[in-house]
Amino acid sequence: MAAGKGTRMKSSLPKVLHRLGGKALLAHVIECAASVSARQAVVITGHGAAEVEAACGRFSPSAGAPVALQFARQEPQLGTGHAVQQALPLLADDGVTLVLSGDVPLTEPATLQALIAQCDGQRLALLTLSMVDPTGYGRIVRAGAEASAQVRAIVEHKDASAAQREIREIYSGIMAVPTRLLRAWLARLDNKNAQGEYYLTDIVKFAVADGVAVVAHQITDAAQVAGVNSPVQLAELERVHQGRLAVALMEQGVRLADPARLDVRGTLSCGRDVEIDVNCIFEGTVSLGEGVRIGANCVLANCSIAAGAVIHPFTHIDGEKLGVQVGEGALVGPFARLRPGAQLGAEVHIGNFVEVKNSTLAKGAKANHLAYLGDATVGERVNYGAGSITANYDGANKHRTVIEADVHIGSNCVLVAPVTIGAGGTVGGGSTITKSTPPDSLSVARGKQVSLPNWKRPAKKTLS
Ligand code: UD1
Ligand code: CA
Repeated sequence: MAAGKGTRMKSSLPKVLHRLGGKALLAHVIECAASVSARQAVVITGHGAAEVEAACGRFSPSAGAPVALQFARQEPQLGTGHAVQQALPLLADDGVTLVLSGDVPLTEPATLQALIAQCDGQRLALLTLSMVDPTGYGRIVRAGAEASAQVRAIVEHKDASAAQREIREIYSGIMAVPTRLLRAWLARLDNKNAQGEYYLTDIVKFAVADGVAVVAHQITDAAQVAGVNSPVQLAELERVHQGRLAVALMEQGVRLADPARLDVRGTLSCGRDVEIDVNCIFEGTVSLGEGVRIGANCVLANCSIAAGAVIHPFTHIDGEKLGVQVGEGALVGPFARLRPGAQLGAEVHIGNFVEVKNSTLAKGAKANHLAYLGDATVGERVNYGAGSITANYDGANKHRTVIEADVHIGSNCVLVAPVTIGAGGTVGGGSTITKSTPPDSLSVARGKQVSLPNWKRPAKKTLS
């Protein structure tokens, strides 16, 4: 169910497209369905339907789709029972329907597996939870006071009597139900209740009337069924999610300076003995090899960092689609920026305020201060001086700069691409190089230094 408006988000973005852990809430739910090997997933859309459906295309590309997706539109939104009715034409009678909400992102696959097992193709299985403050939720009404007493109905908070409002056990919003029974029960719904809605939860009393067993599968972990209705709740669940990812990383051996100050918005895989200092953000797909150390306040996206490399504080790496590779034992930062297509070989050093884009640096190359390398191929052991840049863009096209092995580029040089600096060559500081240079030569391209003797500086005129 993803048709609701999400008024309390106070946002023009449909609620289910808000992100948790870098991924739309709805994407979490669809992945959950995929994780229990659902035959198909039907997304019920309504508010912002076109936007939600288009987004589903983006987060489940047909090639790697986690589960076959279909859409059913619910317009207008007349309640959860009405929502599920819209999906019925797309559901086959021989299956079990698992009802999930697009705004409940943290349900674990094992919980759903257990619920489906309880349903066993013949029972109505409800996921329930006991809450200290059950206000607003549908209450599980049982035939007696004992916890094991037969479930008789779910009564919505607004329809509940004072006595029923004392019930702490609530319906989570998640159920597993044999589809052929669901179809028959939904046909019997009415909207004669406090909210004038078609309640999905009314099927419980039909099951009881038909003599179909109703089982409540009770869990204790509230985060698994918590929905997002407001920015505050979204932030709370984000922390829960990040906390769980941090614990999982630490259990694998990753050493986090502070598990409360880590954000993973994608997939982070780590080798042995990885250390991550505070306030680091990982986005997209990031892999850290054995012994990698990440300093404080780094943002790393779509990159792979080989064994033994050290990323010093305040470094920003974003490989986007091309990726970024950092070689074994390389040192990067502090304050470095690696952009898409940066490929650093082993033991490369990239220092402060150095930007590298779409460039390959071979083993041992160094650019330690205030420099730009764009569309460059840099040989082994090259030393690239402070303040030097590749002028790779002529205003229309990008061109390549080739710096062969063992070249020394002085400070403040401009290498106007396309250009090749021959192996072993030296470029004098302050040079603007527009032509390729031969190997082992010294190339200097700047105004010759002159000194005029006894130079008198202008003096201030005095009024007399
Ligand atoms: C529902 C349950 C309640 C349960 C609670 C758990 C019903 C009648 N009540 O409450 O017992 O304790 O969930 O959170 O089912 N939606 C639609 N179309 C609609 C209405 C809702 O798609 O016409 C979607 C919403 O976007 C949301 C989900 O269904 O994702 C649940 O709706 P919400 O209004 O949050 O739940 P309640 O009806 O308050
Ligand atoms: Ca409602």
